[in-house]
Amino acid sequence: MNIQWYPGHMTKAKRAMKEDIKLIDLVIELVDARVPLGSRNPDIDELAKNKGRIILLNKSDLADERYNEKWTAWFQEKGFHVIKVNARSGMGLKQIQPLVQEACREKIERDRKRGILNRPVRTMVVGIPNVGKSTFINSFAGKACTKTGNKPGVTKGNQWIRLNKTLELLDTPGILWPRFEDQEVGLKLAFIGSINDEIIDKEELAAELLKFLIKHYGRNLNERYGIETEDPYEALREVAQARSCLLKGNELDTKKAANLLLDDFRSGKLGRITLEFPEAPGEK
Ligand code: G4P
Repeated sequence: MNIQWYPGHMTKAKRAMKEDIKLIDLVIELVDARVPLGSRNPDIDELAKNKGRIILLNKSDLADERYNEKWTAWFQEKGFHVIKVNARSGMGLKQIQPLVQEACREKIERDRKRGILNRPVRTMVVGIPNVGKSTFINSFAGKACTKTGNKPGVTKGNQWIRLNKTLELLDTPGILWPRFEDQEVGLKLAFIGSINDEIIDKEELAAELLKFLIKHYGRNLNERYGIETEDPYEALREVAQARSCLLKGNELDTKKAANLLLDDFRSGKLGRITLEFPEAPGEK
């Protein structure tokens, strides 16, 4: 299966983000806990050079808890501050504030030496489409905060949301596009719905997902659809059978089954599943 990625407004968005990043002290980067590396754009490390960094493993409620822990440790080992969160429910968001102080310790210290006290840390949220940026901003900022209005130098339309005395957040997130050389990563992003899947053959995509699930999460498939086969296309027919996806004349509607499977996976009905695994210590 060949996945193409057409980054419509990529250059424009990157330019806007470069401007916004000049105004901030700290980048809060959202990644999808189910595909923590594939859902990043590696340009962020260059763009956010010299800034405080926090990585949020978002949608951690949909990812396998064993791997949430492993990925947290993996990013920590690389020197990032990391928290697993659920932007939708608000789980984990309380831990962010104390981490901000830690991630910006150098800046706060620099300010203090210059006699600048209590200048709020300015931050922005970045991530690929659909990773949960807007949901996060809404949950994190909540209702209690105030918008401080446009200020000189701020990209038109952007506003600072004052979260409290020590933290201000840009209300518009920075959009990054996933960058994958590897079709395998492309597939995983398609499974989670981060790639416009109108351009993708759903049955083929579902069969690829089934192939992965048969290998790593066979129990989940068995529990939900009674699947026992190891053949992905046969498994898709079993999904159709189990969920009564039928065409006229009782023929199996595998297209409908493909959509159903993808929806079940994306909404967590198939259980908590991680698609990308960190390398074990010593491995590349
Ligand atoms: P974006 O700004 O990065 O593009 O993403 P956005 O916030 O629009 O979120 C994309 C989808 O992901 C939304 O679902 C949102 O509710 C969901 N989402 C965000 N964070 C989490 C999370 O931590 N866990 C889970 N399970 N879902 C999350 P949607 O179906 O597009 O919209 P809606 O049905 O929630 O309105």
